[in-house]
Amino acid sequence: MRVLASAPAKIILFGEHSVVYGKPAIAAAIDLRTYVKAEFNENGRIRIEAKDIRTPGLTVSFSEDQIYFETDYGKAAEVLSYVREAINLVMEEAGQRKGVTVSITSQIPVGAGLGSSAAVAVATIGAVSRLFGLELDKSEIAKLGHKVELLVQGASSGIDPTVSAVGGFLYYQKGSFESLPVVELPIVVGYTGSSGSTKELVAKVRKNYEEMPEIIEPILNSMGKLVEKAREVILAEYDKEIKFKLLGTLMNINHGLLDALGVSTKSLSDLVYASREAGALGAKITGAGGGGCMYALAPGKQSEVATAIKIAGGMPMVTKISKEGLRIEEVEK
Ligand code: PMV
Repeated sequence: MRVLASAPAKIILFGEHSVVYGKPAIAAAIDLRTYVKAEFNENGRIRIEAKDIRTPGLTVSFSEDQIYFETDYGKAAEVLSYVREAINLVMEEAGQRKGVTVSITSQIPVGAGLGSSAAVAVATIGAVSRLFGLELDKSEIAKLGHKVELLVQGASSGIDPTVSAVGGFLYYQKGSFESLPVVELPIVVGYTGSSGSTKELVAKVRKNYEEMPEIIEPILNSMGKLVEKAREVILAEYDKEIKFKLLGTLMNINHGLLDALGVSTKSLSDLVYASREAGALGAKITGAGGGGCMYALAPGKQSEVATAIKIAGGMPMVTKISKEGLRIEEVEK
């Protein structure tokens, strides 16, 4: 038997960083997927084949007559620990151990803040649990995905595996989640090609907060209110155009506030401004900042915005919101 499952990437639409201070955030699944194929093998081992996972890439340098290749295998190795823990947890759940081979292909760049680790964990849990004949629902899979993150990285809010398993829009506050109706946002994600450390950026904001709470606290409060406003807009019965305009404005404000917290970089802001000039209704950092990704809301202008992002030095990914989370793509008997 062979099972192919896929799980989507996520973006934080609104509320990164302020969420660390107990404010709400809204995240969404996007249509970039990680595919995991699982089958039993005869040798009793866990075998993981990472066929095509998008690590930050290859750097080539030349000197005189030498060519040097560098690649970030560290990041790829990290992905594999999520897969391994995911397989182990499913086997514990099934109460039996068997040899399993999984092979992974992914459209989600690793280390870009798009939730590639959670997607690989969720797709693995989905494929392997089906292989073992377990009937887990999406919230059980999200919980196992969260467990995998806790085992591998020590701390996690659980937002990434939940969005990846359940799909759509998720409103999150202090550990509880609520699915919101999905607004089909035509977006472009722009990857700067470098990644910031979430841990360091969270620490930087904390330091500023402790040194000057009277200045940082109102920014965090504004961010919290902005997320509430975005939730209202998402739930309202407005026309699509009005929703896009309002959400775009909120994105721009959210970007400004994140910049004020000190988590933007020149390349992120370059991509944000290039997108707006190319016609995006809004553009902001998504995730921790310091590198990683931004996203732009660009109805009718996705290809213009993608070109502008490319010219500004980023890697554009034209994508849409994914209503679906974990998907079983194929089961071969
Ligand atoms: O780096 P990402 O995309 O997982 O986003 C981190 C979001 C933060 O709010 C900065 C941190 C957190 O734990 O919520």
